Amino acid sequence: MSNDPIYSRRSIRRFKSDPVAPELISEVLDAARMAPSPKNSQPWKYLVFGGEHKTDMLSCMQEGIEREEWGMPVLPRSVIGIPDAKNTLRVMQEAPIVILVLNTNGKSPFLPLDHDDRIIEVCDTLAIGASMQNLILKAEELGLGTLWIANTFFAYEELTDYLQTEAQLIGAIALGYANEAPMKRPRKEISEIAEFRL
Ligand SMILES: Cc1cc2nc3c(=O)[nH]c(=O)nc-3n(C[C@H](O)[C@H](O)[C@H](O)COP(=O)(O)O)c2cc1C
Repeated sequence: MSNDPIYSRRSIRRFKSDPVAPELISEVLDAARMAPSPKNSQPWKYLVFGGEHKTDMLSCMQEGIEREEWGMPVLPRSVIGIPDAKNTLRVMQEAPIVILVLNTNGKSPFLPLDHDDRIIEVCDTLAIGASMQNLILKAEELGLGTLWIANTFFAYEELTDYLQTEAQLIGAIALGYANEAPMKRPRKEISEIAEFRL
């Protein structure tokens, strides 16, 4: 089972500084684009950051986290997650590559949605999740570590301003060579997550 990336993958929060070859980045993006999507709309876009571009982008993320911590938070119930967001930022600084993920069909989560648009957004988000999972599992197969990141939401405005985009920022993936080998994290039993009506 441990050769199967579904079972061997872990979230990685310690990365080596070794660079990731561009061919490997292309390979994980190729896996990402094979995911299913509503009417094959492929509403994903991957922005690959490294070097100074990554440093600049992450300084915007840091600004957003600090604004949420010290200003008027736009996500008041999530303020408790700020220490975790700071740790995620540290991981993103350590990883040689950070990939931001956009929903090209989506709008800012701070804008209202009618019922139709909410259903479209759910379907597009599912497709992008499938695409991100393809990317992450391919990375695992290639010996690369990843972290799936949603803490970009603490700096939504700062990051989308930096990107000059109207598209929806879904999250990020940190990518690089793992510098830790975490134990398997607990999972619910099949009996807790499935009901059989056979
Ligand atoms: C949608 C999503 C968002 C996540 N966001 C973060 C994040 O911002 N920071 C972080 O450290 N981990 C993040 N994670 C990783 C989870 O904490 C991790 O998957 C979970 O604890 C299970 O551990 P495992 O991936 O090693 O099995 C995220 C995972 C998902 C699927």
